[in-house]
Amino acid sequence: MAPTPTREDRFSFGLWTVGWEARDQFGDATRAPLDPVESVHKLAELGAYGVTFHDNDVIPFGATESERDKHIARFKDALAETGTVVPMMTTNLFTHPVFKDGGFTSNDRSVRRFALRKVLRNLDLAAELGAQTYVFWGGREGAEYDGAKDIQAALDRYREGIDLLAAYVKEQGYSIRFAIEPKPNEPRGDILLPTVGHALAFIAELEHGDIVGVNPEVGHEQMAGLNYAAGIAQAMWAGKLFHIDLNGQRSIKYDQDLVFGHGDLLNAFFTVDLLEHGAPGGGPAYNGPRHFDYKPSRTEDMTGVWESAEANMRTYLLLKERAAAYRADPEVQAAFERSGVTALREPTLNAGETVSDLLTDRGAFEDFDADAVGQRGYGFVRLNQLAIDHLLGAR
Ligand code: GCO
Ligand code: MN
Ligand code: MN
Repeated sequence: MAPTPTREDRFSFGLWTVGWEARDQFGDATRAPLDPVESVHKLAELGAYGVTFHDNDVIPFGATESERDKHIARFKDALAETGTVVPMMTTNLFTHPVFKDGGFTSNDRSVRRFALRKVLRNLDLAAELGAQTYVFWGGREGAEYDGAKDIQAALDRYREGIDLLAAYVKEQGYSIRFAIEPKPNEPRGDILLPTVGHALAFIAELEHGDIVGVNPEVGHEQMAGLNYAAGIAQAMWAGKLFHIDLNGQRSIKYDQDLVFGHGDLLNAFFTVDLLEHGAPGGGPAYNGPRHFDYKPSRTEDMTGVWESAEANMRTYLLLKERAAAYRADPEVQAAFERSGVTALREPTLNAGETVSDLLTDRGAFEDFDADAVGQRGYGFVRLNQLAIDHLLGAR
């Protein structure tokens, strides 16, 4: 039985995903431009509850004031007609040639000031449309050459920009939080804040870091050879998983933006398991939108575009079903016990125990039989096979 997406699943899509014309480094567009109004209608029909967008996905760069109003008005009509919400918005600081050396961190100060104005304007629209998250993906914030960018000065300017914008949000009383989206490279040779870990460390240096979290994308962590499920687990641990970009990627190579689950399926299973159920030893689940940021492959016509949109939601729901069965399986629970997965929740020291207590506990050291404990088997392979059995529908 195929699960059918509903609004309660809170699936959202970037307008730039289904709307991608499939122009790449080597070839022309293979599809015609898609009207955002049509995307809203079609995505709502397929079961999505929300759409997300960059300013220029709806309002062309350089539009006059009155053109801008017209674009926003007809977009709002589409939202109202379909009951679609806008949970997240973002800024295009990468397409126009002016941003070739970055937005907030361009070596050209006039570009940095322009970038801030572009975001401020779109933040007002985000507040008007009720978006709760504002994403910062710094695709052009970086360099190709080590001598071309003073990284420390660039981080100062990045911090200056984010702090200024966050202060503005607070002053205006908007209920918007920021989410920084890491990516190691592409389009720049090296991008600032390349991984979840870098972004979390950056946030810790902000004055207004309380309203800044992360928006990790599956493929971006995998492009850096990292484990997505582990990355978002750390973001959850830090209370910073404000938003997610789900898609698929096959190993360390160019950004593929495949359909969710069409890359590392087993990691996608554990991602859904974590988002839906929280940590295996207990802990809160993720309650934000399930947002897809993928690109319908260049080989697809419009039928294929909508099939690929559906595929994201279908894969998510199938994995959700499988993850629920995995968690509910008594053998999995027993395997957690055997493997010590749940025991890891227990603090290493007893309540009230001090360092001197530990130093006098002979069982912890002098009488500890490291050789005997070193013989312990953890049974992780059996536990992993149980996950595979569930994933493949064998249990
Ligand atoms: C990518 C990125 C982008 C950003 C989006 C939001 O694939 O490199 O995911 O798609 O998420 O542009 O700014
Ligand atoms: Mn991507
Ligand atoms: Mn993304």
